[in-house]
Amino acid sequence: NWTMESFIESQVQEIRKRVGDKKVLCALSGGVDSSVAAVLVHRAIGDQLTCIYVDHGFMRKNESEQVKDTFIGKFHLNLDFVDASERFMAKVKGISEPEEKRKRIGNEFIRLFEDEARKLGQIDFLVQGTLYPDIVESGTETAETIKTHHNVGGLPEDMQFELIEPLRMLFKDEVREVGLELGLPEEIVWRQPFPGPGLAIRIIGEITPEKLDHLREADAIVREEIIKAGLHMEVWQYFAVLPSIRSVGVMGDGRTYGYPIVLRAVTSDDAMTADWAKLPYELLEVISNRIVNEVHGVNRVVYDITSKPPGTIEWE
Ligand code: XMP
Repeated sequence: NWTMESFIESQVQEIRKRVGDKKVLCALSGGVDSSVAAVLVHRAIGDQLTCIYVDHGFMRKNESEQVKDTFIGKFHLNLDFVDASERFMAKVKGISEPEEKRKRIGNEFIRLFEDEARKLGQIDFLVQGTLYPDIVESGTETAETIKTHHNVGGLPEDMQFELIEPLRMLFKDEVREVGLELGLPEEIVWRQPFPGPGLAIRIIGEITPEKLDHLREADAIVREEIIKAGLHMEVWQYFAVLPSIRSVGVMGDGRTYGYPIVLRAVTSDDAMTADWAKLPYELLEVISNRIVNEVHGVNRVVYDITSKPPGTIEWE
């Protein structure tokens, strides 16, 4: 008779026994898996757990604040919040090639993580939000390697830790149930997958602070409207992309020359294949109107109607 409560209780006991009085580290990304794993381990061992959250500056609107509010404010986790936006922006300046962006962001992330970890002294364990499907699939090379997935939250290769993987027997829907049971907010439990490099790979071409602002605002509108329409649990991923081209438009009695926003929304089970989501026209209309009216510098919204394959979910 397997219930969420008994699962949580047995994991808590097991983690306590294994860790003893040693110290544990967790790379918190704010995603579902690392969040649930962190809170579960925290319930077991409290302040023996330290979480590191690296804000690379490519997070979505309000996301880093929400991480602070939830994990420090609500759960009182020992959270080392590293604001490194400027360092990351400097690293990607002038870079437009997607894999080069990923590489630079991934490397910088690991460097920062290691620096922080070193400050903490002797650490014996590392928490990972590995799920059952991750274990089953590991070892098989998939089409996903078409793009390197530097998962922010990934583990530095030369660091020696024993792994604590409390979710390793669970599927995603079970992880969500455990998360709710532990008191995590719905926004985190139902958070859509978000790539490690974040908005950096949703700006096609060179990243500038201006483009990042436009994209962040447009993306917030997309998320808000999809949630308002009640579609956030059906649609696998929904977001905005900003290509570095500009087009002519007209507003009031003036000509505009602004960026377009690409709206991307897909349904999928595992991200390996995906269909473009058949969003209602009325919803598309609301999103488009809001973006061109509220995001200064954007004058056009287009909808990506490509499935995967042949498209990928992300544009880079
Ligand atoms: P694609 O674009 O290859 O994406 O269809 C498949 C899934 O992977 C996510 N994705 C990433 N995740 N680091 C990540 O952690 C990355 O560099 C990355 N690139 C793509 C994407 O959001 C989708 O869920």
